[in-house]
Amino acid sequence: MNTALVILAAGKGTRMNSDLPKVLQPIAQTPMLVHAMRAGAVLSPERTVIVAGHGAEEVARVAKVEDESVSVAVQEKQLGTAHAVAQARDALTGFKGDVVVLFGDTPFIEPTTLERMIAARKSFDLVMLGFDIAEVQPRYGRMIMDGDRLQKIVEYKDATEEQRAIRFTNSGLLACNSDLLFDLIDQVSNENASGEFYLTELVALANARGLTATAIKCDEAETLGVDSRADLAAADAAFQTRARNALLQQGVTLMAPNTVYLSADTVIGRDTVIEPNVVFGPDVTVESGATIRAFSHLEGCHVSRGAIVGPYARIRPGTELAENARIGNFVEIKNAVIAEGAKVNHLSYIGDASIGAASNIGAGTITCNYDGMMKHKTTVGENVFVGSNTMLVAPVTLGDGAMTATGTVVTKDVEPDALAVARAKQQNKPGYARKFFDMLRAKKARRDKGA
Ligand code: UD1
Repeated sequence: MNTALVILAAGKGTRMNSDLPKVLQPIAQTPMLVHAMRAGAVLSPERTVIVAGHGAEEVARVAKVEDESVSVAVQEKQLGTAHAVAQARDALTGFKGDVVVLFGDTPFIEPTTLERMIAARKSFDLVMLGFDIAEVQPRYGRMIMDGDRLQKIVEYKDATEEQRAIRFTNSGLLACNSDLLFDLIDQVSNENASGEFYLTELVALANARGLTATAIKCDEAETLGVDSRADLAAADAAFQTRARNALLQQGVTLMAPNTVYLSADTVIGRDTVIEPNVVFGPDVTVESGATIRAFSHLEGCHVSRGAIVGPYARIRPGTELAENARIGNFVEIKNAVIAEGAKVNHLSYIGDASIGAASNIGAGTITCNYDGMMKHKTTVGENVFVGSNTMLVAPVTLGDGAMTATGTVVTKDVEPDALAVARAKQQNKPGYARKFFDMLRAKKARRDKGA
């Protein structure tokens, strides 16, 4: 059976108190909407429609980066969840199959749950997804069940005291045949406590037509809705716990798991060791057998087998660390390739550069890659020895086997095997230090006497 996804993402999220549309708030450095899209992707949807409203342009841009084939339907006014789904009708013209409705602010839905919803569709016309709430709260529609048949869903605001005590509540997600879905939506009215067009009304409408509806259950954690910054922090924490546990299970050593911050797309190979207090920004891949030492910050980079990073290293986007590369303390690397076995061990900035195999970059070396207007490239060959505190003024190339003297400011290319020295010549003046200190002492003595 073909499947289409409709992801509701028009809400403002007033309680977030933010300029960013709610569904673009990040969890593990990834917008909630993208989490929802990835969850839905397990159904291999033939079409995906995002219903956007607040910040629709931004929402559309983010959605299309994740999957350029998505359609975005704009809901100008947020008149309720049924009205939101109705906006997807045009984008689904000609589609035959099941529509699964997801919420853009419910990022943790499990693939197996969506599969169970589709499976339940074989026996029921309409399948809702629900969960048991741990404690009664003034939120969530209440599921009115009769055996495995769902009679109706009553929104909290419209519920009686007796109904409010029900713990089986609505996640909002549903699966239904496309034609039937839009047919039922046409019948939804807004005569309720909120004056909104409720998607939940579909249940009573389906039953009234002699069709069948059911509700399947998932874990509360999966349908955790995110409405406030506190919810966002709690959702991120829940994500981190799961992701850390998954890494431990895959054979990654996390010396202090609770102090390691991961992104949704972080990939780390087996037998890699992550020391305490490491942050993984988006788009980081670490191969097996690498070591990321304490207090390092990585984003947009690839770390190969056997490489060692940190402690206190900052690896920025576009960095490729080859096998057994060494990046030490207080080193920043950006948009650079550090080839096999090369070392940048202390207090350096290497940006827009390529450092050849087995080269050694001395302490305090900096690529001067920016002239205030443009970025320029530094190329260091293989087996190069860059002396401490060398300034590599880009664009510049150092040939294989070359060397720079400590403190050199390199402004011209250095040919292979050559030594570049560019610094003032040292002069030693015998006895000058003693004379200078004698003079200072005499000066101090005169001042003390006068006082
Ligand atoms: C909805 C359900 C409720 C369920 C709860 C779970 C209805 C009527 N109620 O309640 O039974 O327990 O979700 O969280 O469906 N949205 C739009 N356009 C709109 C309205 C909402 O796109 O006009 C989107 C929101 O951005 C959000 C989702 O739909 O992603 C749910 O909206 P929300 O206002 O949170 O739903 P509730 O009314 O709380």
